[in-house]
Amino acid sequence: MSIITLVGTQWGDEGKGKLVDLLAEDAQLVVRYQGGNNAGHTVVHKGQEFIFHLIPSGILHPGTLCILGNGVVIDPEALIEEMRTLTERGVALSNLRISERAHLIMPYHRLLDELQEQARGDKRIGTTSRGIGPVYVDKVGRCGIRMADLLERDSFEELLARNLEEKNLLFEKIYNTKQCDKDEILSDYLGYAEELKEYISDVSSIINKAYLEGDNILFEGAQGTLLDLDEGTYPYVTSSHPIAGGASIGTGVGPTKIDKVVGAVKAYTTRVGEGPFPIEELGPIGQRIREMGREYGATTGRPRRCGWFDAVAVRHAVQANGLASIAITKLDILGGLGKIKICTGYRYKGNLIRDFPSSIRIIQECQPVYEEMDGWDDDISQTETYDELPDATRRYLARIQELLGVRISIISVGSERGQTIILENPWASEKMSAER
Ligand code: IMP
Repeated sequence: MSIITLVGTQWGDEGKGKLVDLLAEDAQLVVRYQGGNNAGHTVVHKGQEFIFHLIPSGILHPGTLCILGNGVVIDPEALIEEMRTLTERGVALSNLRISERAHLIMPYHRLLDELQEQARGDKRIGTTSRGIGPVYVDKVGRCGIRMADLLERDSFEELLARNLEEKNLLFEKIYNTKQCDKDEILSDYLGYAEELKEYISDVSSIINKAYLEGDNILFEGAQGTLLDLDEGTYPYVTSSHPIAGGASIGTGVGPTKIDKVVGAVKAYTTRVGEGPFPIEELGPIGQRIREMGREYGATTGRPRRCGWFDAVAVRHAVQANGLASIAITKLDILGGLGKIKICTGYRYKGNLIRDFPSSIRIIQECQPVYEEMDGWDDDISQTETYDELPDATRRYLARIQELLGVRISIISVGSERGQTIILENPWASEKMSAER
């Protein structure tokens, strides 16, 4: 019996989808705890590619209960579309549950997201335009609409009318654009309610009961630590808490019940959207990593900004999440690049910085300090054990481990479930390979 939280340690897109799919094999429950359909988790299962935006990738395991927790924000239209796509591909959804406390993304949230981005001009955040910021603003502002409200027609209508009064004023007077039509939204959302009602439940109770019954439970974070509202590169962040602390709030399970936090760490660094990114490689190396790693947004298709491994950023994530171990992903992509670099510090106005700065200006203006290592030319994508990895690859991993001060439990060398080297099964406490 344990609860593991899996978090992203960089700017998202660390390959968490594959890790969830892998860890779900030994889990009875998988729970998403924050974010919405801004996320895009890609999983290759038996040669078929699946892209998940809301539903945990654990749904590919028929015996696993997959839950959208309290902290998730749900665009019902997008969720129904994702459900439809999965059903058409033969994936059963009887194990899906949706929190009645989860907030609903409404059409006016999506519209506001776009209008606010336009208004920001060259200071835009580069959001996914899914309405994420505005829906969390309403949640904090205590005027949001929740799944439970969707099931009560009268209160839903009243909340919608109250929200539209304010939002339509904003659209008309500030943004000089068309208003949202209440009847149209009401009719669409009542239709969504019909489709979703059988899945909506008190998921906190379900999770807490499963814990008491001794189930293995996986809490699945979306995005990454550097996109966290508090720990990330604010204001160039998402509007929720991808860090491990968010898991307790977003699931309704007390923090003392969570046993371990595992960090997903990509072997290099990417970022999609605007905001400072000290190790960005604008030349051929960045281009090569992007092409080899297929670094294009799973949600928006935008090319991701790429760079070498940034140990300063990931050390920040080790601290913010209290990581027990890390899962290194996409290690195969670094093969054939010649010399490999690791960023071990930032230089700012002549000073060496080792802790990730809070000031956006410092992150924007600092210079990365690199350490160079030998790379490897071998194709490691079929490697099954740690000992079979080339010497240079093992030295790279050992250096990352040393710089982060956290041991590696999983190494992913390809997108298929089988292309994984497990050094230590996070569900067990014993080490499966001590030779490191
Ligand atoms: P939002 O979450 O759509 O408001 O976007 C805020 C920032 O987070 C933007 O830079 C997005 O590109 C980024 N972002 C949101 N979701 C993801 C994700 O799943 N992976 C990577 N970046 C993301």
